[in-house]
Amino acid sequence: MTRVLITGGLGFVGSNVTVSLLKSGYDVIIIDSLINSSKKRLIDINNILNLFNSHKKGKLFFVKLDIRNSEDLNRTFLKYNEKDDPIKAVIHCAGIKSVEESVSDPLSYWDVNISGTLSLLSIMKLHKCHTLIFSSSASIYSQNINNPVTEKSLLKPINPYGNTKLSIELMIEDLNKSEPEVWRISNLRYFNPAGSNLEGLLGEDPKTTPTNLFPIILDVLKKKLDKLHIYGNNWPTKDGTCIRDFIHILDLSEAHLATLNFLLENKPQILILNIGTGLGTSILEVVNTFNEIDNVFVPFEFDKKRKGDVPILVACNDLALDTIKWNPRRTIKDICIDCLKTIKL
Ligand SMILES: NC(=O)c1ccc[n+]([C@@H]2O[C@H](COP(=O)([O-])OP(=O)(O)OC[C@H]3O[C@@H](n4cnc5c(N)ncnc54)[C@H](O)[C@@H]3O)[C@@H](O)[C@H]2O)c1
Repeated sequence: MTRVLITGGLGFVGSNVTVSLLKSGYDVIIIDSLINSSKKRLIDINNILNLFNSHKKGKLFFVKLDIRNSEDLNRTFLKYNEKDDPIKAVIHCAGIKSVEESVSDPLSYWDVNISGTLSLLSIMKLHKCHTLIFSSSASIYSQNINNPVTEKSLLKPINPYGNTKLSIELMIEDLNKSEPEVWRISNLRYFNPAGSNLEGLLGEDPKTTPTNLFPIILDVLKKKLDKLHIYGNNWPTKDGTCIRDFIHILDLSEAHLATLNFLLENKPQILILNIGTGLGTSILEVVNTFNEIDNVFVPFEFDKKRKGDVPILVACNDLALDTIKWNPRRTIKDICIDCLKTIKL
């Protein structure tokens, strides 16, 4: 079986990608420091796999490890790099991701995201593991660009989180340029991942106060928050609220699987892809979609616009559709329904 190491594999994205890969027969070694996740996710992943009857299932391993610790990382590669079964690829999801926190504590973001990636790439190079998928973000694009956003649109992040994501892309590009004949790399620029797997076990469950829209709405429905704040109601959009490209976590996971298969089957290259649906949904439309579901009502109030928000951010995903032969299939309603499965109302 092909072995893949997933950093941050117990987080929201990493755990869903892990399930996708295991179901397709890859062996997965998760490494995670548990800074924003817990070991319960391992049980959830195993429970999901037990529901899935197939001889193809891969094996799952877990190592608690901070990727900044290159000695431990090296030991992990030595341990799991079996002679006939080396670690073939790394999917690099580990990182911290709150825009607000990155503004108040930028050095932590440079430390975890940049030092962590530097350590990981050095150990990958040492062990001749040359296939990498990196969790990048739409937050690296400039605020002043036309929609839909293509991979060639201007890059100009406006916060420390986005700066670290762009810097990592540049670090990876430099590494690729040093030995383009060996590296197989993809930077996946996620738009707004949301939802959960179909069993409602692997939703977005941050340890600290949530900052993404869907976990905030879930906190409102769980009555941890009294209402949703919608920032601005006079943006130049159809209903005055911001428009974003929300992508179901299962579609995002399938994009990783398709990218991995593509990289392993094709010649060395670097591939930069937007991973979004190409469809925009306003914040008010998200609230209304929740409210269409029986017994669900999301109270909200309009608030002042936030500095740094843009009215519309929607992906052009043509390149991903053409290259990795992937197609996002789930709707905004699917995202809302699957999100709700993670809580008992
Ligand atoms: N979820 C989003 O909205 C979104 C959007 C764009 C990009 N991304 C990127 O995707 C990646 C995964 O996001 P997520 O939503 O799954 O976040 P998450 O916080 O749920 O998962 C990240 C995981 O990485 C682990 N981690 C953090 N620092 C680590 C370290 N130094 N060593 C080992 N493990 C570490 C955390 O414990 C957590 O389990 C992140 O890099 C994030 O920046 C996420």
